[in-house]
Amino acid sequence: MKTQIVLIIVILSFFGRLSAQQNLTPAIENKIDSLLKIMSVDEEIGQVNQLSYGSGWGPNAKKEIKSDFVKMIKAGEIGSFLNAVGVDLTYELQKISMEQSHLKIPLLFGFDVIHGFKTTFPVPLAESCSWDTSIIKMSAKYQALEASAVGVHWTFAPMLDIARDPRWGRIVEGAGEDPYLGSRFAAARVRGLQGDLSEFNIAACAKHFAAYGCAEGGRDYNTVDVSERTLREIYFPPFKAAVEAGAMTFMSSFNEISGIPSTGNKWLLTDVLRNEWGFNGFVVSDWGSISEMTTHGFAKDTAEAAKKGIVAGCDMDMQARAYKNKLKSLITDGKIPKSLLDESVRRILRVKYKLGLFDNPYKYCNKDREKSTVLSPEMQNAALDASRHSIVLLKNNGDLLPLSKSIKKIAVIGPLASAKKFPLGSWEQFGDSNDVVSLIEGIKNKFTESKILFSQGCSVRGDSKTGFADAVKAAEESDIVIAAIGEEGHMSGEAYSRSDISLPGVQQELLAELKKTGKPIVAVLMNGRPLAIEWVQNNIPAIIEAWFLGIKSGDAIADVLSGDFNPSGKLTVSFPRATGQIPIYYNHKNTGRPFDSTVHYSSGYYDTKNSPLYPFGYGLSYSRFKYSDLTLSSKELHENNELKVSVTVENASQRDGEEVVELYLRDNYASVTRPIKELKGFRKVFIKSGGKLRVEFSLSRTDLLFYDINMKYTTEEGMHTVMVGASSEDYLQSEFYYKQ
Ligand code: NOJ
Repeated sequence: MKTQIVLIIVILSFFGRLSAQQNLTPAIENKIDSLLKIMSVDEEIGQVNQLSYGSGWGPNAKKEIKSDFVKMIKAGEIGSFLNAVGVDLTYELQKISMEQSHLKIPLLFGFDVIHGFKTTFPVPLAESCSWDTSIIKMSAKYQALEASAVGVHWTFAPMLDIARDPRWGRIVEGAGEDPYLGSRFAAARVRGLQGDLSEFNIAACAKHFAAYGCAEGGRDYNTVDVSERTLREIYFPPFKAAVEAGAMTFMSSFNEISGIPSTGNKWLLTDVLRNEWGFNGFVVSDWGSISEMTTHGFAKDTAEAAKKGIVAGCDMDMQARAYKNKLKSLITDGKIPKSLLDESVRRILRVKYKLGLFDNPYKYCNKDREKSTVLSPEMQNAALDASRHSIVLLKNNGDLLPLSKSIKKIAVIGPLASAKKFPLGSWEQFGDSNDVVSLIEGIKNKFTESKILFSQGCSVRGDSKTGFADAVKAAEESDIVIAAIGEEGHMSGEAYSRSDISLPGVQQELLAELKKTGKPIVAVLMNGRPLAIEWVQNNIPAIIEAWFLGIKSGDAIADVLSGDFNPSGKLTVSFPRATGQIPIYYNHKNTGRPFDSTVHYSSGYYDTKNSPLYPFGYGLSYSRFKYSDLTLSSKELHENNELKVSVTVENASQRDGEEVVELYLRDNYASVTRPIKELKGFRKVFIKSGGKLRVEFSLSRTDLLFYDINMKYTTEEGMHTVMVGASSEDYLQSEFYYKQ
C-alpha cells in the first residue's frame, strides 16, 4: 500500500505588508556631510558621471589603461565606470583614484550581469518558470559571487519589466507577465545579489523604471501610453517589491510614459519612488537616456535635458556626459539649485559607503579569488540546478517521455541540436560557447548505450531545404527523433523585437518532413520569448520548452529527456496561438461582451480562438497531480481576520514529483472593473508517488487591495471568487464574501 502523506502547508500572506521605507544610517550620513563640505562643484559632478570603459576580460585580454580615463580619475571627474572588469584592471583604476585624486573617493564598477558573467545561468525568463524563489535567490547569489570575483560592485539587474507582448525582445530578461510573481522574484533576486552586503555581494539595480515592457507594437524603445491605474496595478509592483527588499539602485527607462520620458519624470523618480515608497538609493539613467530626451523632443538641447534629468531625480548620468558638460553652468547661471546636485551626490556616496568601498576600496580585487571562483565546479552545478528547474514540459502524449536509456538509436535533428553559442542567449557577456554543453553533447553524456545520429536539417532563419533529405534519413534510421528548434540566441534581447513570433525560417517545414517518417518526435524548443507554435502543438506528440539555459543546457535537457529529473517548471507568460492575439495575458478584464461562441457580437476573433495556446501557469510533469476538496474556513472574510483556503493535491502516479499550486482571486464586482483573475499565492510542493498533501493558503484584506475610482488603495465589500489549481485555466473554485 502506498504511503499517504498528509501535510499542511500554511502560506503566510506577508506580501505587501512590509514597510517600503529604506532606513538611513546616521553614521554614514555624517560622513557624507563632512565629505560634501569639502567637495568642489566639479568633484561633485564627477560623482554623477558614469562612462563605459570597454574592457576585455580573460587570459588573452590586453589590460588597457586608457590615458584619457586616467586623467579624469585623477581630476575627480568620474565616479563610476561600466564595462571595466577584471581584478587587474579594476585594482589599477581604483588605485589611481585612491592615491592620486584629491578626495580619494572609491570608484564604483558596474556591469550587466543579467544571467551570469562567465558562468552563464538560464535567461531570467526561463528561470522564472521555476516558480521557485529559493532557486532564483541562489542563482542571483552565485552570479554576485562570480561578478564580485572579477571586481564588479554593482550589476544592472534585476530587470523587472512586466511584459505582455512577446514581440518585445527584452521579454527574455524579465519574469514574465504577472505583477505578483514578478514581485516575489524581484525580492528574491535583490536579496540574492545584495545579501547582507558584508561579503561578496554586489549592489542590485531595479530596471527599467518604468513600463518599458509596454512599448507600442512590442518595438523596443517605443512610446508608452498607459493609465496610472495600470502602472500601479501591473507595472509598478515588482519595483516596489525591490525597494522593500532593499535594492540600492534603480535605472530609469528609455521610454516615455504618456508624453514624459522616464529619465525626466519627476512624478516617477521622486514622488512615487522616493516620497511614496521610501527609496533612498540612487537612480542611474539608461545608456545616454539623458541626452535622448532631446531626441524625444522633450528638451530643446543637452543643457535642458541635463536640467530635466537632475530635477526629476535621475542622479547618475550613464554615458551621455550631459551632467559632466552642463550641470556646472546650470548651477552658476542659477537655473538649478546646487542643493539638487548635493542630494544626488549624497545618494551615490551612500551606496559606496553601504557597499563598504570606503573601508576597503579593493575588496573585490583578489587575484586568487578571481581564479578560484570564475567558472568553478560549484558555480557550474548551481547553473545546472537552475537550468533543470527552468524547463517546462508542454506536451507529452502517450507518455512518450521520459525516454528509456536503453533506446537503440536516437536522431538529434535541427538547427539548435549542436548549437553551443545560442544556448547562451542574449547578454551572454563573457560566457564562452566552448564551455557550453550543447543538446547533442548532453544526450551523448546521458544515453551512453544509444547510437546518436545528428543532422542539422536547416538553419534557424535561412530558407534552404537542402539539409532536409539528410535529416529525414537520420530520422528513418532511428527509433526516436529529438528535434531542436527555436530562435537564435540573439533573436531576443535588446533591440531584437519581432513582428511575427512563429518559428523562424523553414523549421516547421522540417518538422513536417520528419513527421512523415512516422517516427516518434520530441520537439525541444530553445527561444527567448513565447512562440506561436500551434502547428507544433497539433502535430508533434511531445514538446519541451528549454528556453536558453546557459552553459549546462544540454545536460539539463538530457536529465529531463531521460527522466533523471522530473520537470516541474510552469510558464510565467502566455503563449499565443497567433501573433495577432498580442497583447495576450491571463489577468485581463471581462469586457461587457466576453467571448461566447454562440453569440456573434461578443469579443472574439473571427479567425482564431481567444484562449492562448499555453496559458500562464501551465506546465506538465511526469507525475500526475489531482486536485480535490477545495475548502474555505468560512464563507466570509472580515477586515481584520484571515480566511484559510485549502486543497488536497494528490500525486496519482508512479513518480515522485514537484507541483506548483497556484491561487487566483477575482473581485466579482467593484467600483472599477477588475481582472477576471489575479495570482495571489503559489507554493511549490514535493509529493511522493501516491502521496497526498493538504495545501493551505491564508487570505487577508491585503490580498484584496486595489485602486478604486479615486486611485485610493483600498478594499470594498462584496463577493470574491477564489480559484486554486494547476494553472490559470485549470482550477477548482469557490466564493466568499468580504465584509469591511
Ligand atoms: C542599455 C540597456 O537598456 C540597459 O539594460 C543596460 O543596463 C545598459 N545599456 C548598460 O549596458
